[in-house]
Amino acid sequence: MSAPGDGGFVRVCSLGDLEDEVARRVDLGGVPVAVVRAEGEVFAVNDICSHANVSLSEGEVEDCQIECWLHGSRFDLRTGKPSGLPATRPIPVYPVKIEGEGPGAAVLVSVTQES
Ligand code: FES
Repeated sequence: MSAPGDGGFVRVCSLGDLEDEVARRVDLGGVPVAVVRAEGEVFAVNDICSHANVSLSEGEVEDCQIECWLHGSRFDLRTGKPSGLPATRPIPVYPVKIEGEGPGAAVLVSVTQES
């Protein structure tokens, strides 16, 4: 999947595959990741809510937050922190790299380096 020394970054899609404020779920070596383009940036967070086993990529994205559709906790895409109950623990946030230009640019994520 990834070569040694590349920081574990793996190509997940092209920039043009991501719609603004629509999460895309990818599986990186068994780690479920929600990739989201929002406010001109691309973010990657763990796709599973820290409250229960719910896929966050099935929820809404607004104001750089992803909402868990089941109970309504919202997580900041930059920090992973929940803004409200019932979730109290943050979700992991992963570093993203963009390589290239325009819609064909590669979106790379590393799940080996949580930030
Ligand atoms: S499962 Fe996400 S807030 Fe409860």
